[in-house]
Amino acid sequence: MATKVDATAHDEPSNSEPVQKQQKQTVDPYNVQGEVDENGVVKAIDYNKLVDEFGTKKIDDELLARLERVTGKRPHHFLRRGIVFSHRDLELILDRYERGEPFFLYTGRGPSSDSVHVGHTIPFEFTKWLQDTFDVPLIIMLTDDEKYLFSEKKTIEEVQGYCNSNAKDIIAIGFDPAKTFIFSDFDYVGGAFYRNIVRLSKHITLNQARAIFGFNESSNIGRIHFGSIQGATSWASSFPHIFGEDEKETVGIPALIPCAIDQDPYFRMTRDVSARLKYQGKPYAKPSLIHALFLPALQGPGTKMSASIDESAIFMRDTPNQIKNKINKHAFSGGKVSEEEHRQLGGDTSVDVAFQYLRFFLEDDEELERIKVAYETGEMLTGELKAICIRELQRYVAAFQDRRAKVDDETVKLFMETRPLKWGGNPRAPIV
Ligand code: TRP
Repeated sequence: MATKVDATAHDEPSNSEPVQKQQKQTVDPYNVQGEVDENGVVKAIDYNKLVDEFGTKKIDDELLARLERVTGKRPHHFLRRGIVFSHRDLELILDRYERGEPFFLYTGRGPSSDSVHVGHTIPFEFTKWLQDTFDVPLIIMLTDDEKYLFSEKKTIEEVQGYCNSNAKDIIAIGFDPAKTFIFSDFDYVGGAFYRNIVRLSKHITLNQARAIFGFNESSNIGRIHFGSIQGATSWASSFPHIFGEDEKETVGIPALIPCAIDQDPYFRMTRDVSARLKYQGKPYAKPSLIHALFLPALQGPGTKMSASIDESAIFMRDTPNQIKNKINKHAFSGGKVSEEEHRQLGGDTSVDVAFQYLRFFLEDDEELERIKVAYETGEMLTGELKAICIRELQRYVAAFQDRRAKVDDETVKLFMETRPLKWGGNPRAPIV
């Protein structure tokens, strides 16, 4: 399962470099790649190692039990199955929720193309669950500037065009317009947001940016600065139309940021700066985070789906037939080479892509367990497992396409208008 090493990432195809030998695992906003062993084979991404290296915390049973107690809701299957697996200071958000103190949700997407795939929808599905559960405002950032700065060829007009179609895809997940603000960086930067961007940038040195993101002397300075834009969105005071003009109040309102783990470096940096900042004596709230793992590429668990590699991904615009063909043809199998051997020894669900997708998309825990046992004991063959996976993905994508067809330009305008939001679960309480 030697997948190509993508040195540029950001959904840009690599310069088709040959697979490099023996490379350490890299996960940052611009590269996602499991360890490459001495034979050039890409290993599955080691998420425990990431938790150690990044210094985040694993979401354990105790925290899940508390979440259930506090919200009165059964944790989402991503939480139950360790797909949303790590966090920073989630406890502090639960404390605030219990006390009726305000917080908000913040997530985002880099509009790098019109081709949204099932991997992109994972953090948004989870964010919707958080919004439904906590009933708080949600801010969704579209980093058109980032996609321009980090791509060799894309024009500003191109990435701005993707914003509109990506916003429709995001809206189709089912967010509540009364509680959701979607913005494009090119359109929204200015005023209170820009003041926060500059505040943040003043507290990050070039040395720090290099250490966190791996920039070098040849990196364009827009890239080096970009982290302050993604970071400043974590501060409620960047959105006076939602949280009010009084910065002394708003600096204390934290964000909870659901994201894939590769985005953590931006927010590690933002948390460090937040800890050093005060507004008229009031400390800035550090954002909390909740991290998802990646949906593996069809080729296997060593890398994530890529919008620029067609056969690596199931796209939200794929037809039922395309889904079927891609899974049958490309999905990496944990089955044995011959039927006889498979019946005897069983398959390996930990690397089998069809099974891994079912963990994301099949909600019924008992059904999933039944499939796992049947496949691992050799009772179920790869063809049957793939057929179940195809059915579930066809169902998921078709339901999305139905909702997406109803989202028009007017709806996008509604979500992207700078306006007050209304939410109920967590009325704005005075900050003590
Ligand atoms: N940088 C992200 C991307 O390339 C987009 C993004 C901006 C984001 N802010 C975020 C993602 C907050 C998750 C959480 O897709």
